[in-house]
Amino acid sequence: METRRSVVGFSPGFMVLLFWVSLISRATARFVVEKNSLTVTSPNSIKGSHDSSIGNFGIPQYGGSMAGTVVYPKQNVKGCKDFEEFGISFKAKAGALPTFVLVDRGDCFFVLKVWNAQKAGASAVLVADDIEEPLITMDSPQEDGGSSKYVENITIPSALIDKDFGEKLKKAIRAGDMVNVNLDWREAVPHPDDRVEYELWTNSNDECGTKCDMLMEFVKDYKGAAQILEKGGYTQFTPHYITWYCPRAFTVSRQCKSQCINNGRYCAPDPEQDFSQGYEGKDVVIENLRQLCVFRVANESKKPWVWWDYVTDFQIRCPMKDKKYNKECADAVIRSLGLDGKKIEKCMGDPNADSQNPVLEEEQEAQVGKGSRGDVTILPTLIVNNRQYRGKLEKGAVLKAICSGFEETTEPAVCLSGDIETNECLDNNGGCWQDKTLNVTACKDTFRGKVCKCPLVDGVQFKGDGYSTCEAIGPGRCKINNGGCWQQTQNGRTFSACVDTDGNKCLCPPGFKGDGVKSCEDIDECKEKKACQCPECRCKNTWGSYECTCIGDFLYIRDHDTCISKQATEAKSAWAAFWAIFIGLAMTAGGAYLVYRYRLRSYMDSEIRAIMSQYMPLDSQTEVPNHVSEDHA
Ligand SMILES: *[C@@H]1O[C@H](CO)[C@@H](O)[C@H](O)[C@H]1NC(C)=O
Ligand SMILES: *[C@@H]1O[C@H](CO)[C@@H](O)[C@H](O)[C@H]1NC(C)=O
Ligand SMILES: *[C@@H]1O[C@H](CO)[C@@H](O)[C@H](O)[C@H]1NC(C)=O
Repeated sequence: METRRSVVGFSPGFMVLLFWVSLISRATARFVVEKNSLTVTSPNSIKGSHDSSIGNFGIPQYGGSMAGTVVYPKQNVKGCKDFEEFGISFKAKAGALPTFVLVDRGDCFFVLKVWNAQKAGASAVLVADDIEEPLITMDSPQEDGGSSKYVENITIPSALIDKDFGEKLKKAIRAGDMVNVNLDWREAVPHPDDRVEYELWTNSNDECGTKCDMLMEFVKDYKGAAQILEKGGYTQFTPHYITWYCPRAFTVSRQCKSQCINNGRYCAPDPEQDFSQGYEGKDVVIENLRQLCVFRVANESKKPWVWWDYVTDFQIRCPMKDKKYNKECADAVIRSLGLDGKKIEKCMGDPNADSQNPVLEEEQEAQVGKGSRGDVTILPTLIVNNRQYRGKLEKGAVLKAICSGFEETTEPAVCLSGDIETNECLDNNGGCWQDKTLNVTACKDTFRGKVCKCPLVDGVQFKGDGYSTCEAIGPGRCKINNGGCWQQTQNGRTFSACVDTDGNKCLCPPGFKGDGVKSCEDIDECKEKKACQCPECRCKNTWGSYECTCIGDFLYIRDHDTCISKQATEAKSAWAAFWAIFIGLAMTAGGAYLVYRYRLRSYMDSEIRAIMSQYMPLDSQTEVPNHVSEDHA
C-alpha cells in the first residue's frame, strides 16, 4: 500500500471521522514539510542545493551533516524487496564515502524501502517521487501490519526528493558519474537564543497500536532528560493535545455523543474503533483535558516538569487494558504527586455543559500553523523552536534535535553526554588525525556528529588542522614524545633536539648536526678542524663534544681554543703584579704631592693677601670698606 493517505493523519480511517471536519481543514490546511538541505557536490553538471523532506522515522542527524555517494540499484528500484535476493549490497568499502541509496516511490510503504536499504548496508535513503507535486512528509503507516516489527529498528535517515531532481540524479549515475551529495540538518532547527522552546503534541490514549506504544515508551524514556532541561531553565516545554469537533448537524448523533464533550465541541476518536465496547472517544478527551490542566496548575506553581511525572505515572498506574483509565485512578496519581486536585477540577470545567472550554479552545487555536510552522496533523508531533521535528520519537534522536536548537557553546551538559553522541570515531577514526604510538586522536564524537579537533595531551595543546596534522606546540611540548624530535642517551649522557619554546622546530644541540627530527650526528670536531687545531694541541673527539690537551708545558684555554705556556703565564702575572704595585705607589705619591701643592698654595695665598692688604686696597675689597664708612659718616 502507498502511504500517500497516511501523510495527514493519526486518525484511523473509520467512517465517523469522515464526517468530522478537523479544525485544520476549516482553516485552509497548511501542511509544512520540514526540509533539510541536500547538496550535490559532484558531478559539476548537477551541482547545487535541493530541498528534500525528512522522513518521519529513522534518525535524522539534527545539528549535523552527512556526506555520501548516491547509488541507484539496477534491480529492485523501488526497494520493496529484500536487496539480498538480488545479491545487492550497499556496504561502503573502507575509506569510501557512505552509500546513499536512491529508490523510486511506489508499490510499498516508505518504511519498507528504507528498512530494506538499511539491511543491505545503506547509510541513508533518498526516495524519488513518482509524480510532480510539492514535497510531502514520509510517515510510518498507521496499520499494525508487518511494518511495526522493523519500524523501531530503522536508524538511518531518509528523505523524499522531487521527481525532477530524482531524474537528474539517475541520469548522472547512468552516465557513469560519481554522484556525491551532502545531507545537512544543521539549519533544520533554528537557534535564536540560549533557551529552546518546544512542544509535544501528544495523546493520553494508550491503545492505538504501534504509534501509541512508541509515544508511551518515548515519554517514559525521555522524562529524565526533559526534567533536567526544564529545571535548569534551558528549555520551556509545553504539552499539547489535538481535538476535533463534530459538525453541527451531527452533534446529536450517537457517534458524536460518545466521542465528544461540551456538546460536540471537542472530540477524539474511539480508542478501539468500536462504539459498543470499552472506552469512548470522550473518555480520551477528558483525560487529555485533565493532563492539560495538570500542566497548567504545575506551571503556575513554577514546577512545569511535574507534568512528565503525572503522564508517566498515569500511564503505568491507569492503563486502558486494566480498565483503570478513569477519574478515580487519575485523582490518585494527582494526590500522590501533591498536586492541587481542586484547581485541576476547576480548570477542567464541566464536560457536559453546552459551552466552550477555554483550555481546549486554546488548543484548537494552537493546532493551526503559525510562521514557519505548519498545521499539526500528525500525532505525536514534536515542535522545536517552532519547527516540526521529523524522525523517530526516540530519546537520543529527540535530544539531538533539541540540542541543535541551542546556539553552539550554550548547550547544557546533557547535550554533550555520552547518550546522544555519535560513534563515527569508531569507524576509521572518523577520518581524523591520530597518533598510534601516543594512542591519541583528533576525533571527538558529539551530538553534532564527529569533529576533528587536535587533542590536549598531558596539559599540552596540539595544534593543526585536525585531519592530516596535529603537533604539540609551545611550552611543555618536549614532554610529549620529545616534541617529535631526535633524542639519544649514551653512557649516561642525554642529548635532545627539542627546544621547549613556542616553536615546533627541532634543532640539533651544539656538537651535533642533522635534521633534528630523525637524526643528529656527532660532529667530529678534530677531523672537521672545528677546534683544537693549534700546533701544541692534541685533539680527541667525544660524543657531542671533544677533548683537547696540550703537549709539554702548555695549558689549553678552551675559551680561546689555544695552548699557552704555563711559565709564560706565571712570569707575566708576576710582572703584572709588580707593575700594578709600582703604578699604585706612583699614583699615591703623585696624589699626595698634588694635595700638598694645593693646600700650600691656598695657605700662601691667604698669607700674602693679608700682608698686602695692609699696604694697598685690593681690587676685590675696595668698595666694601668705603661703603661701610659712608654709612657711619
Ligand atoms: C529489532 O531490534 C531488536 C533489538 O535490537 C531485535 O531483537 C529485533 O529482532 C529487531 N527486529 C528486526 C525485525 O530486525
Ligand atoms: C507557563 O509559565 C510560564 C511562565 O512561568 C508562561 O510564560 C507560560 O505561558 C506558561 N504556559 C502555559 C501553557 O500556561
Ligand atoms: C588507547 O586509549 C584508549 C582510551 O583512551 C584505550 O581504551 C586503549 O586501550 C588504548 N590503546 C592502546 C593500544 O594503548
